[in-house]
Amino acid sequence: MSDPDRSARNYDAYITGLIAREEPTHQETREAMLRSGLPQIAVSASEGKLLHVLALAIGARRILEIGTLGGYSGAWLATALPDDGKLITLELNERHAEVARASFDAAGLAAKAEVRVGPALASLDAMIAAGEAPFDLAFIDADKDGYVDYLERALALVRRGGLILADNTLPDAVLDPSADSGAKRLNAVAAAHPELTSIIVPVLRGDGLDGLLIAVKRA
Ligand code: SAH
Ligand code: DHB
Ligand code: MG
Repeated sequence: MSDPDRSARNYDAYITGLIAREEPTHQETREAMLRSGLPQIAVSASEGKLLHVLALAIGARRILEIGTLGGYSGAWLATALPDDGKLITLELNERHAEVARASFDAAGLAAKAEVRVGPALASLDAMIAAGEAPFDLAFIDADKDGYVDYLERALALVRRGGLILADNTLPDAVLDPSADSGAKRLNAVAAAHPELTSIIVPVLRGDGLDGLLIAVKRA
């Protein structure tokens, strides 16, 4: 018998093939991102399905995303919403936002998914100042240097019992432990935060691992 292939890619292929299958619209979103030359840094299908399952599990009706890119993770999140649910997703880059809007349109998600362009910190502060209705879930996935600020703003915008998630929380923290990194600082703040109960879950991405921080804002 040959050695079992314990590579992350092999595990991810099994999960994705069985239980994290992309809808045609997910594939179209990835193709649109490739055609438009966007960086290939979206979540994997298996991580996208995890986001979707978490949103469903808490009955999310309002979701905040920080870092839209082409709308790939946004599509996994928005499809977990009820018909009258809302995803507000924040993106700095106008070109990325255009790709995302077109993808949401093509996927029939335009009524649920709103892309707001600008620096996320300014958008978040404007939402807090305007008394934006609370969110059930926030997914942090923009510039890593902003992560601690985004967590603080997400804490103000998410309801008690809601979830704050953050992508890319493992490699920087583990592979170069002496280096400063926004994700590592986020992990430390979440771990010590009196209002949060948190865990970092390894997720499969290409041929390696990344991490998803999952934090509950306690009731
Ligand atoms: N969530 C996406 C991937 C996001 S990649 C997915 O998985 O499909 C990170 C995105 O954050 C990029 O599109 C980048 O332009 C955006 N970004 C970087 N700095 C930002 C900032 N200060 N405010 C808002 N978005 C920012
Ligand atoms: C990068 C950003 C991401 O959100 C990600 O999931 C992977 C890589 C990056 O900026 O390199
Ligand atoms: Mg990411």
